[in-house]
Amino acid sequence: MSANTSKIPVTIAGTGCYLPERIMTNEDLEKLVDTSDEWITNLTGIKERRICADDENTSDISTKAAENALENAGIKGADIDLIIVGTVTPDTTTPSTACYVQHNIGAKSALAFDISAACTGFLYAMELAQRMISDGHYKNALIIGAEKLSSVINWEDRNTCVLFGDGAGAAVLTAGSENTGRILATELGTDGSQTSILNIPGGGSACPIRAENVQDKLNFLSMQGREVFKHAVNAMKNSAEAVIEKAGLNADSIKLVVPHQANIRIIDAIADRLTIPNEKIFVNLHKYGNTSAAAVAIALDEAHREGKIQRGDNIILVGFGAGLTWAAIAIEW
Ligand code: COA
Repeated sequence: MSANTSKIPVTIAGTGCYLPERIMTNEDLEKLVDTSDEWITNLTGIKERRICADDENTSDISTKAAENALENAGIKGADIDLIIVGTVTPDTTTPSTACYVQHNIGAKSALAFDISAACTGFLYAMELAQRMISDGHYKNALIIGAEKLSSVINWEDRNTCVLFGDGAGAAVLTAGSENTGRILATELGTDGSQTSILNIPGGGSACPIRAENVQDKLNFLSMQGREVFKHAVNAMKNSAEAVIEKAGLNADSIKLVVPHQANIRIIDAIADRLTIPNEKIFVNLHKYGNTSAAAVAIALDEAHREGKIQRGDNIILVGFGAGLTWAAIAIEW
């Protein structure tokens, strides 16, 4: 990855998000597993999360977030020529969730596909879309991070069920001009030696859906929390530092950092190591928990709509997820 030297600048034309209506609080979880509001709050910062209705799928919440972003950008679905959905909870293994979204928003001429990069999915999608636009082949991309994680959570496992939630976020990327904001630099990475510390073992070809695998709960998300924590802090700190340097920014010239929303202690550790004051770090995990690929997308939209990002501001997006995967992106808004 390198600083963006392409001739066509890529700008964020609009953002959107959608959160399911149903709220699950820490007190609700106390009734399901041996946990407490105090433990969850102190160790993660999460107070509540959203849960999709049974008949509400990842493509449905993706579509709502997409419509919200299109409205914000002032363009129609028919104007979109590229759709990338980052998700680990697609409606179906195939076709991709992006295909359902393409139909739902009437983006008839758009190329549509999903990518699987766990919590880093939205940022991987942003990297791909910006490369495809800056090459001159596509003009308006819709990128989405969306998850129905409630469908892969073991609601009897207190190590994981308290951490996650459902939701969707989206952004419209478009070919800009000299006078618009632009993606300044990107820094992405993968470490495939750590696949075992965070994964969903079943449901793929290595461990198909069979009665005995379901019996062993292999269809649910599995995690070694401490290991993941350690890697998350290092990867996000290193990638954020690298992208800040590539973009020629520093702590003073950065208006806002929008990090992956997994755990307030991870976010605080990164802010501390980057020596960026807490008021420049956007946090909404107390409301939604970790929504994986949706987390940075939802946070970006909320920060934008709350007026925390204005034209000309420099912002940093940074994320981390299973894979392991990580990414940091510097944007002049
Ligand atoms: N409620 C109450 N107690 C719990 C609990 C819960 N929901 N989950 C675990 N515990 C207990 C453990 O059993 C353990 O008890 P013990 O000391 O008697 O053995 C104790 O709390 C400490 O558990 P531990 O896992 O060592 O805590 P931790 O400091 O590592 O914090 C996490 C746990 C999950 C909050 C933390 O590891 C974390 O956030 N990791 C990263 C997770 C993440 O971000 N994943 C997604 C990445 S994209």
